[in-house]
Amino acid sequence: MFTKATSLVHHWISAHVRRGDLVLDATCGNGHDTLLLASLVGEHGRVVALDIQPQAVASTRQKLETANLLDRCSLHCLSHADAADVLPVGTLLDCAIFNLGYLPGGDKSVITQPDSSLLAHEAVVERLAPGGVVLSTVYTGHEGGQEEADSLLAWSARLPSSQFSVARHEWINQSGKPPFVMVISHRGSR
Ligand SMILES: C[S@@+](CC[C@H](N)C(=O)[O-])C[C@H]1O[C@@H](n2cnc3c(N)ncnc32)[C@H](O)[C@@H]1O
Repeated sequence: MFTKATSLVHHWISAHVRRGDLVLDATCGNGHDTLLLASLVGEHGRVVALDIQPQAVASTRQKLETANLLDRCSLHCLSHADAADVLPVGTLLDCAIFNLGYLPGGDKSVITQPDSSLLAHEAVVERLAPGGVVLSTVYTGHEGGQEEADSLLAWSARLPSSQFSVARHEWINQSGKPPFVMVISHRGSR
């Protein structure tokens, strides 16, 4: 369970997200994370899911439809830098997840970018509810990945510690460049 970023993130999401929550999947890809989020928020919760690739949004939609969970989700073909435009007005996020990089099995030239990833993280942290969390899986093995990681780490290290806790989970005995998971937690109570 703790050997891969995706399974670790799913474990943490499952422990954190409650029925009725508002959550954001900022890079929905093939919809694996969106599907889990949709099952956790229940019928009165809401999942907002974004991707810039129409086929990713279509694939996520298909997964949700098959699982009969589409009614609690809003899907948008949109950059996460513009997430604030589609979040319900006046609401705060209980959880947001980013799975950066490119879509496995998809177009490897469509990759999350340092500038838009940073803008998106800034916007999401601004909308985070007390006790809310942002879980970001960050890859450094592709071109631009290290730059994206460096900019997110530098920015998150400057978040006020009175309001947020920032942690990084990394795998230190693997070959190559495994991803790491950055966890930003709002210190307030839920
Ligand atoms: C690693 S994949 C996500 C995998 C996904 N979480 C899943 O469960 O299948 C990264 C995704 O980020 C998307 N992406 C790239 N730039 C983006 C942006 N600016 N805003 C939203 N999504 C973006 C890509 O199209 C790709 O589908």
